[in-house]
Amino acid sequence: MSQVKIGLLGLGTVGGGTVNILKRNAEEISRRAGREITVVHAAARDLNKPRICDTSGIKLTTNPLDVVNDPEVQIVVELMGGDGLARELVLSAIAQGKHVVTANKALIAKHGNAIFAAAEAKGVTVAYEAAVAGGIPIIKAVREGLSANRIEWLAGIINGTGNFILTEMRDNGTDFGDVLAEAQRLGYAEADPTFDVEGIDAAHKLTILASIAFGMPLQFDKAYTEGITKITREDVECAEKLGYRIKHLGISRRTDKGVELRVHPTLIPERRLIANVDGVMNAVLVQGDAVGPTLYYGPGAGAEPTASAVIADVIDVVRTMDAPVESRIPHLAFQSSAIRDIDILDMGEVETSYYLRISAADRPGVLAELTQILGDRGISIEAMIQQEPAEGERNANIIMLTHKVQEKRMNDAINAIESLEAITGEVMRIRMESLG
Ligand code: NAP
Ligand code: HSE
Repeated sequence: MSQVKIGLLGLGTVGGGTVNILKRNAEEISRRAGREITVVHAAARDLNKPRICDTSGIKLTTNPLDVVNDPEVQIVVELMGGDGLARELVLSAIAQGKHVVTANKALIAKHGNAIFAAAEAKGVTVAYEAAVAGGIPIIKAVREGLSANRIEWLAGIINGTGNFILTEMRDNGTDFGDVLAEAQRLGYAEADPTFDVEGIDAAHKLTILASIAFGMPLQFDKAYTEGITKITREDVECAEKLGYRIKHLGISRRTDKGVELRVHPTLIPERRLIANVDGVMNAVLVQGDAVGPTLYYGPGAGAEPTASAVIADVIDVVRTMDAPVESRIPHLAFQSSAIRDIDILDMGEVETSYYLRISAADRPGVLAELTQILGDRGISIEAMIQQEPAEGERNANIIMLTHKVQEKRMNDAINAIESLEAITGEVMRIRMESLG
C-alpha cells in the first residue's frame, strides 16, 4: 500500500491526540483511506516537554517552517493555534501545492476568505472540521448532508469550556475560576481562556457555520459577542425556577433584513434536548426547510475527540488528492463563484424575548414605574417574580420575562430603568430563545 506523509505543526493537546490515534488505529485508517498515513515531521516550541504521545520515528523541530518546507510532507496539519504565524505557515504550505488540515477556528474565521482563495488557485484543499464543535462532524453534516436544504437557522453550544463552566456552576455550585482551571488542565481551554469565557471562540465557530449554511463570506468582525462572565448562580437558579436553562449559544438566522450572527448567554426551555447538553459536550441544532430540525451532539473539546475530526479530514484529503479539483467539496459549501455578500443584521435590529433581573427598592410604586417604562416602549411582560429581600437588605430582585422585542427598544428601556432612583446597579439582561 502506498504512503501519504504528513507534517504536524504542534504536538500539544490536539497534536498529541492525533499522533496517538494515527498509531493506534493505523490499520483501520489505511483501510479507509486506501493509503498508509504516516507522520514524518512535527514541530513544537519545546522539544524537551513531556508529550501525551510517542514521537519515536517522527523528525522533530522547533521551527514549523522546516515541516512546511519538507519536500516529503504532502499534507500539513496545523495544530498550533493563533492567527499570525499559523496564517503564514498555512499560506506557505498552499503556495507549495500542499494540502492543509487545521483545527484553528480563529485562523479560518479571520483569514479563511483569503486562505480558501489561495487554496483554490493552487488546486489544494484546506480542511477544517475540527475547528467547529470538536469531535462532532458538523462541517460535513451542514456542507454535505444538508446540501439539499435552504437552511433557515442554526443554534449551538459550540464552546466546551463555557458549557463545562455553566454546568459545574449549576450542578455543584463550583466557583467560576476553579472550573476554568480544571478545563485548562483537561486541555479544553484556548491558550488565552478569555476566548472561551468571553465568547470569542464561539463567535469564530459561529462565523464558520453561518458561512457554510448561507453561502456567504466569513465575516467574523460583524459577529455580536457576549461571554458568560456576568452570569451569577442567582440567574442560573431563577432560570431553573421558571423552567429554563442558561446556555451559551451561537445563533445565526436568516431574516428578510439580513443574517443574525450572535453569541450570548441564552435562556432556553429546559424541555429542549439542547438545554440538557452538559459539561464539555457541544450540540448544534440546524433547521433546514426540507429536513426540518436536526441536532448534532458530541464532545466539543479534548485531545482525542478533536483529533478524531482532524484525522477524518486527513482521510478525506487522501481520498481526493488525486481527483480532479472540480470533484472536491467547495471550502464554504457553495461554489466559490456563488458565494454572495449578505448583510449581517445589526444587533439593535435583532428581535428576541428577554429575562431581566432588576434590583429594586422594596417599596410601593416601584413595580408600576418599571411596567410603565416597558409599556411605553411596547414591551409586554410574559412572567414576573419578585423575590423577598434577603435578611437585612432593602432591595428585592424582580425577575421579568418579556415577549419578543427589538434589541434597540430593550436597550432604551434598560437605560430608563437603570436611571430610576429606586434601582440599584445594572439590570441583568439575558436573551431567550424558544428554539422551537
Ligand atoms: P496546545 O496544547 O497549546 O498545543 C499547541 C502546540 O503548538 C504545542 O505543541 C506547541 O509547542 C506548539 N506551538 C505553538 N507555537 C509554536 C511555534 N511558534 N513553533 C512551534 N510550535 C509551536 O493547543 P491545542 O489545545 O492542541 O490547540 C491547537 C489548535 O487546535 C488551536 O487552534 C485550538 O484552537 C484548536 N482546537 C483545540 C481543541 C482542544 O480541545 N484543545 C479543540 C478544537 C480545536 P509546545 O508544546 O512545545 O508548547
Ligand atoms: N476551547 C475550545 C472549547 C476548544 O472549549 O470549545 C474546542 O474548540
